[in-house]
Amino acid sequence: YSDELRSLLLSRIRDVPDYPKPGVLFKDITPLLADPEAFGALTDVLAELCRERGATKVVGLEARGFILAAPVAVRAGVGFVPVRKAGKLPGATLSQAYELEYGSAEIEIHAEDLTPEDRVLVIDDVLATGGTAEASLRLIRRSGARVAGVAVLMELSFLPGRIRLEPTLEGAPLDVL
Ligand code: PRP
Repeated sequence: YSDELRSLLLSRIRDVPDYPKPGVLFKDITPLLADPEAFGALTDVLAELCRERGATKVVGLEARGFILAAPVAVRAGVGFVPVRKAGKLPGATLSQAYELEYGSAEIEIHAEDLTPEDRVLVIDDVLATGGTAEASLRLIRRSGARVAGVAVLMELSFLPGRIRLEPTLEGAPLDVL
């Protein structure tokens, strides 16, 4: 994974100030998705990481995590499992509530999609407060599966996401591309 590739990926992420509300700096990945060279290279890097971590499943976090994670799962030859916002999955789910800056949220997974034999790589676009990633690790462990790692494209380093996530990683690696 070269500096050149990192520069290419970063050049395809658009900073949008004051979106979706004043004071928030939104990281827009749509230019990256629209560039087949950049999206393909990102998919390759993550699929390689998937193999390195010995992952048997890839979990993507709604919604942008789905876009990044699904092609990685196909390329790595492992299954894809979505973690969705509450109320979207029709089958038997495990649910996990977590605290946001203001208020709380809840995410869910289909219990039967993971087994105790699975090692799971979690993929998302951004680590901000770390709440979503932390809750997804709890869901994975509650299913009986093991966490092989967490990979995000970006970290908002002015937020304490990494610090919040650290205890829940329980030694699993966090990769920020
Ligand atoms: C964003 C982002 C991560 C999460 C990170 O998703 O894609 O999933 O927030 O934030 P956190 O570290 O503070 O939990 P968002 O909730 O905007 O959902 P979307 O992708 O469906 O728009």
